[in-house]
Amino acid sequence: MRFENVGLRYGNGPEVLQDVTFALGPGSFHFLTGASGTGKTSLLSLLYLARRPSRGLIGIFGRDITAMKRDDLPPIRRRLGVVFQDFRLLDHLSALDNVALPLRVAGVSESDIQKHVPELLTWVGLADHINAKPPTLSGGQKQRVAIARAVINRPDVLVADEPTGNVDDRIAFRLLHLFAELNRLGTTVVIATHNETLVRRFRFPRLNLAGGGRLEVLPPLADVEEGAAEGGSPAAPGAMAGVGPVPPASLAARSDG
Ligand SMILES: Nc1ncnc2c1ncn2[C@@H]1O[C@H](COP(=O)(O)OP(=O)(O)OP(=O)(O)O)[C@@H](O)[C@H]1O
Ligand SMILES: [Mg+2]
Repeated sequence: MRFENVGLRYGNGPEVLQDVTFALGPGSFHFLTGASGTGKTSLLSLLYLARRPSRGLIGIFGRDITAMKRDDLPPIRRRLGVVFQDFRLLDHLSALDNVALPLRVAGVSESDIQKHVPELLTWVGLADHINAKPPTLSGGQKQRVAIARAVINRPDVLVADEPTGNVDDRIAFRLLHLFAELNRLGTTVVIATHNETLVRRFRFPRLNLAGGGRLEVLPPLADVEEGAAEGGSPAAPGAMAGVGPVPPASLAARSDG
């Protein structure tokens, strides 16, 4: 997946993204950082194909999406898991049915759905809310339903916009472990966040929107800080391993093909 000299403007306004160039290797994990209003959601909306750039090239799964017709996009979209900043759950469906949607679209059997979806919802702390409808859930609970829906089908790429913005740090760490596990299974992950504790704790590189629509690619925050403290010693590998329980086996249950 790559961006080359991508620019984005809304209507006749100024460019909110300017000359954005980066590549995401398959199976990579990046944080997307930057102050409020610097363009994180705008950049992610290009990644999950909700918008097209005003200029530049976006390659995804080896294809230039800026040259593709609208009708060619849905099969690509189905390979993406998205956690929207505003969740976008279906209010008339239960938590279980919201999370089951991508599995039903993919033709997964109802018995597998009834097994794996409650398992994942339980893992994210929603065992008591499996049959609840979104309007009866708190912000943090809705956020976890949205996350479960995005990861249940083990997408090739996960794009998450502030996925821990409504939960406490304990749950946030648990959710980051879920994303890291998904990444270990092969999913390319991009997570927009303001949470510096998370960014410090999980040693992943950063895409940082520095203002003026410019993007810089930065090494993991902890590496930079330790480098400053110790004169540039490399980071210990696996520094984030072994914290918290392993996510449920249901993540590995994707029916490939
Ligand atoms: N639909 C839109 N129409 C016009 N301008 C928009 C639109 N969406 C975003 N913008 C503008 O683009 C800029 C970047 O917004 P964006 O939502 O991408 O920022 P963000 O980094 O995600 O912020 P936050 O951290 O608050 O979520 C802002 O100046 C915003 O006003
Ligand atoms: Mg945003």
